[in-house]
Amino acid sequence: MENGKRAQWGSNFGFIMAAAGSAVGLGNLWKFPYLAGKNGGGVFVLIYLLIVLFIGFTIMLGEMAIGRSTQLSSYNAYRKINKKWSYVGAIGVIAGFIILSFYSVVGGWVLNYLYQTVIGGIPTDTSAYFGSFISDPISPIFWDMVFMIATAIIVFKGIGGGIEKACKFMMPALFVILVIISIRAMTLPGAGAGIAFYLTPDFSKLTAGTIVAALGQVFFSLSLGMGCIITYGSYLGKEENLEKNSIIVPFLDTLVALLAGFAILPAVFAFGFEPGSGPGLMFITLPQVFDKMPLGWIFGTLFFILVLFAALTSSISLLEVTVAYMQDHHKWGRTKAVIVLSLLMFLISIPASLSMGILSNVQILGNNLFDFLVLISDILLPLGGLLMCIFIGYVWGMDKALAEITNNGKFPFKLKGFWTIMIKYIAPLAVIVVFLNALGILKL
Ligand code: PFF
Repeated sequence: MENGKRAQWGSNFGFIMAAAGSAVGLGNLWKFPYLAGKNGGGVFVLIYLLIVLFIGFTIMLGEMAIGRSTQLSSYNAYRKINKKWSYVGAIGVIAGFIILSFYSVVGGWVLNYLYQTVIGGIPTDTSAYFGSFISDPISPIFWDMVFMIATAIIVFKGIGGGIEKACKFMMPALFVILVIISIRAMTLPGAGAGIAFYLTPDFSKLTAGTIVAALGQVFFSLSLGMGCIITYGSYLGKEENLEKNSIIVPFLDTLVALLAGFAILPAVFAFGFEPGSGPGLMFITLPQVFDKMPLGWIFGTLFFILVLFAALTSSISLLEVTVAYMQDHHKWGRTKAVIVLSLLMFLISIPASLSMGILSNVQILGNNLFDFLVLISDILLPLGGLLMCIFIGYVWGMDKALAEITNNGKFPFKLKGFWTIMIKYIAPLAVIVVFLNALGILKL
């Protein structure tokens, strides 16, 4: 709330940059390339694209409709429509907490890598360096704190003057840097093998695990299932076209994920590294790639600036979800909410960071705390999405949702039939099937 009246985006472009900023993040630049590397390259990319098209678009539009209709952040939005469903919004607020507390740890790593790249401080043995850095009890927590402070400052400045302004600058800059780096990577001698690996679906690599990984990644990457888009949508005016926005935002997010693969995998192949090296791909493999590349220092610096921008435009959305909840529900002022919540999230992130080092033997269901938080978010987001589909289809009602999307018939809704079938039947069913599968696979 600004001046007692609910804040609004300055323009639809501002909203798109903010929503795409939330979507484009570590999920695209860090997770997507290594998940593709691990899950068979092209076949993962193909499944991912199909899920974005069918489920990603559907849920994004659903969240935007709930947010704009109620003009409230997620918990109160569900509550306003049907009190019994407010717990779905509560799950989202909790998920925001959980995600930001591991997200800021990785955001801190990115800051450290940016700093080290600038001062030339990354040794040749990048694997040993990464291991010793993340297990250190002090340095990663220091960078984590810097990352949280930057996040808090932007959110403190509010919707128009903070989040929108930051995203309108960082998102286009990120895109330009990413295009430069992709061109550099794809023109390296030997890059062809990486491009082929990335683009050729090898169906023998298709397993249930690929589909589970792709579904989780779609939710995480598009910031779906935890009310983030509900919250951002609540600052949207009635004259904006939700259908168009729900196509543009996933399109931009997917474009960046695909480009990230083009920026990273060809270079990995060109210098003879393993694409399936997992989470270390960005922090272990890439610094070696930059080391070997002509003008690698400049490309490395640019790359980590890019990742930092992406991470910040996402972390602010995660913090905003919880801040907006405190404002809407508990009538807290923005300043108090930002200070208390960011501090709390930082405190939770400390054990998450330490779980890479001195707390590594504290195990929950066979995971260290960091991996456990990631696992919980991988469950909560699709669960939130599933409940949202049921909520729209059977509780709020399709007629009300459609009236919101079309602004009572003022806008055409070309994909109305598709969206209706997807949200009522196909999307929830698909998530249930994947869940059941995962339960079997994980033998929980
Ligand atoms: N979409 C972000 C990424 O890809 O890094 C992560 C994220 C942000 C997830 C906001 C969920 C969310 F609500």
